[in-house]
Amino acid sequence: MEIEYGVQIRKATEADLRDIVRVWKGNIRTINTSSDIADLYHSFERYFFVVSMVDKVIGFVGGAIRRGHGHISGLAVAKDYRMKGIGKRLLKIVDHEFLASGFDKVTLEVRKSNWGAMKFYKKQGYRRACLIKGYYADGEDAIVYEKKI
Ligand SMILES: CC(C)(COP(=O)(O)OP(=O)(O)OC[C@H]1O[C@@H](n2cnc3c(N)ncnc32)[C@H](O)[C@@H]1OP(=O)(O)O)[C@@H](O)C(=O)NCCC(=O)NCCS
Repeated sequence: MEIEYGVQIRKATEADLRDIVRVWKGNIRTINTSSDIADLYHSFERYFFVVSMVDKVIGFVGGAIRRGHGHISGLAVAKDYRMKGIGKRLLKIVDHEFLASGFDKVTLEVRKSNWGAMKFYKKQGYRRACLIKGYYADGEDAIVYEKKI
């Protein structure tokens, strides 16, 4: 699917894995190792999409199924390409895939300090569900968001 000239969203393939790891680690404060990310991809590849600009991967979304509903495990857009509607498109496309496989609720966790992402998710219809104290390895709390799709 072409968003604008040269920018495409498509299903991720095995060949994109290195780029997904690069964008994931470069843009998200995470403790996920490359092998954690590869395991997630291999378990839930149906829910992984990448955005590419010509040949370069500039963003991705990694979805999963967790406790009977959709879950966003990772979402990032490279700095130079933010605020152009790409994150929104990535969420829409993975929502569509969740619905197609019979899941109509999606959850995700955000670091308590990640105000930008919280504003973004609110705009996409997510509402704050609860807080998990000390969820991240460095002790930061996570805010759980959820949405009916
Ligand atoms: C969160 C993120 C994926 C958003 O991607 P993006 O492509 O910049 O978002 P979009 O351009 O689709 O924005 C959609 C809407 O959210 C708003 N928005 C996006 N980022 C925002 C921010 N940091 N602060 C306030 N609003 C924001 C946009 O203004 C836009 O609003 P509009 O629909 O009224 O025009 C991107 O900022 C990112 O990769 N951040 C670093 C990684 C991260 O924190 N991921 C989430 C936690 S896993």
